[in-house]
Amino acid sequence: MPLLEAKALTKSFSEPGSSIEILSGINLSVTAGESLAIVGASGEGKSTLLHILGTLEPPTSGAVHIEDKLVTSANSAFFRSHKLGFVFQHFHLLDEYSVLENVMMPGRIAGFPSSKEKGYDLLEKVGLSHRAHFAAKQLSGGEKQRVAVARALFNDPPLILADEPSGNLDHNTAALIHDLLLSLTQNKTLIVVTHNLAFAKRCTRALRLSGGRVYEYRDE
Ligand SMILES: Nc1ncnc2c1ncn2[C@@H]1O[C@H](COP(=O)(O)OP(=O)(O)O)[C@@H](O)[C@H]1O
Ligand SMILES: [Mg+2]
Repeated sequence: MPLLEAKALTKSFSEPGSSIEILSGINLSVTAGESLAIVGASGEGKSTLLHILGTLEPPTSGAVHIEDKLVTSANSAFFRSHKLGFVFQHFHLLDEYSVLENVMMPGRIAGFPSSKEKGYDLLEKVGLSHRAHFAAKQLSGGEKQRVAVARALFNDPPLILADEPSGNLDHNTAALIHDLLLSLTQNKTLIVVTHNLAFAKRCTRALRLSGGRVYEYRDE
């Protein structure tokens, strides 16, 4: 059973008087334990695809199944809180909240009993336990992204989705985030949009999104 399956996904955005199709029939099967990189030029629809796979927005047509269950508008919140963790290019931390509170936020949203111990444990894993009580806004970009990685893992979801997680970071900091993402998702599944081809090569599989469709990615 695939962990995630996308069937015949299309996505169109309509403006008054016109409609533009961004995704034109995407079929995708992601096995548990894979790390899948998605590469492609800016504007090709990588974020749109990741948002649909992550149940953040619905496709125009087609379907997403997670653990063999069809994602619908009625159950998508369940998948987001129990099955998925997200890392974004611009971190999306709550700036006024502490680092520890940010890491524990997915537990609060899902209504799980709060576990500070687990929060500290994850901060330890990303090398930031000494920053637990700083406000998120006091951190550097690379530190913020390490907090976002810890936060994505808090509910122990089987699938982590990351959208250009190193897109805003310098070369060395980006490499640190790549190492963390790959090592901390070793027993999970990772789908990551990236412009970093060296990182894409370290994933178990890479796809290129172009003209609304996905292709196996090879060095071109
Ligand atoms: N909510 C939206 N309404 C209209 N157009 C959108 C919307 N979201 C994305 N688009 C358009 O879809 C295309 C793909 O966007 P995006 O998925 O962000 O691409 P990528 O992440 O590959 O750079 C772009 O042309 C973008 O302007
Ligand atoms: Mg994008």
